[in-house]
Amino acid sequence: MPPTLPADDDAAWAPLKSQWSLREGTTYLNHGSFGPPPDCVRAARRNWTEALESQPMDFFVRQLEPAWLAARDKLAAFVGTKPGDLIFVENATVGMNIVADSFPLGAGDEVLLTDHEYGAVQRIWQRACEKTGATARTVELPLPFRSAAETCDAIFSAATDRTRLLIVSHITSPTAVILPVADICGRARERGIAVCIDGPHAIAQVPLAIDEMDCDFYTASCHKWLSAPFGSGFLRVAPRWQAVVRPPVLSWGRIPPTKIETWSDEFVWSGTRDPSPYLSIPAAIEFLEEVGLESFRSRTHWLAQYARRKLVELTGLQPLVPDDPAWYGSMAHVPLPPPQDGGSAPATLRPDETSPVSNPLQHTIWRQLGIEVPIVDFRGRRYIRVSCHLYNDTEQIDRLVAGLAALLQQRN
Ligand SMILES: Cc1ncc(COP(=O)(O)O)c(C=O)c1O
Repeated sequence: MPPTLPADDDAAWAPLKSQWSLREGTTYLNHGSFGPPPDCVRAARRNWTEALESQPMDFFVRQLEPAWLAARDKLAAFVGTKPGDLIFVENATVGMNIVADSFPLGAGDEVLLTDHEYGAVQRIWQRACEKTGATARTVELPLPFRSAAETCDAIFSAATDRTRLLIVSHITSPTAVILPVADICGRARERGIAVCIDGPHAIAQVPLAIDEMDCDFYTASCHKWLSAPFGSGFLRVAPRWQAVVRPPVLSWGRIPPTKIETWSDEFVWSGTRDPSPYLSIPAAIEFLEEVGLESFRSRTHWLAQYARRKLVELTGLQPLVPDDPAWYGSMAHVPLPPPQDGGSAPATLRPDETSPVSNPLQHTIWRQLGIEVPIVDFRGRRYIRVSCHLYNDTEQIDRLVAGLAALLQQRN
């Protein structure tokens, strides 16, 4: 067991920052969108790529399959499922598309999503429903969040006897809320509704026990909180659905092209490519295990709670969830006052800037303060979402809050 560092002690955690080579001049408070990997994970990836590029035949034919299986075993144990129920995918988006292309839907069927689902996920199910004559429906969850029971009641009172599938984030993207997914799965089973959990923010941020939850599908990207290389994720499919889940790209399945024995064999070889992101997932897990997962979670939650408190002091506006680690982990999410220009003014670009993020305040924070932090619009209000990882500290949060205070005074 690694020694436990006090969550509130910046100095004790400071040495860990040197594990990341982040670009000078930017304060990165957006691990939740794109999580930079620590140097040891980058090195692991480089080593795998080197093994591939220095002797491709040996790598693909002799080394790949055992390394792939070892990485899959490690990831499966980390997320609490059986290796045979899990496949690697490039990201949660690919995982969700595989489910959408495979799940049996017909005319009159309904797919139910919460209104906190990621925008691209909404599009994926819109298209799947258009193709099959099914309907994608969205349920508005009551705000603010008060109890798991109230959230579940809202979801299941929107379900009908036509609802075949529920799409729900484990931790939501626009609102950073930990949804009560275990309760949701239990209630869905009673109603005979399948559940697909969209979990990219959850892996590492909260403990995962996917088999215990007994969802039908669970997909996640490993390049967020786990800090594995970009282009690494997984899809876990409950055995009851494995017969219907098909690879989006058909190739040999396994390499060498031996007989396909299990559903997951079809997903190992989908044409020649660099699998180093998947093979480096164990390095990311080992890194966090060495830090101590509970220490990681309590430190990053403590920072998120600190950010939340400071932002609430600044705005006087209350967040959507109670101040409780059951509802939020490593991301603080706080409402901001409406823009004083009504939000109509687009970000102004310098000649060397090609495209701003869509929110003008986010663009200004980055340009004037050098801080990457998302400003999110949700149901007509704007919020700030502050991600806290091991390379962040209270000085960065204080700088954000002071800078934001000045910007809000200047009518942003
Ligand atoms: C809840 C949620 N689902 C899905 C995604 C898509 O993740 P990726 O781009 O890694 O596929 C994101 C990305 O931010 C997300 O927050």
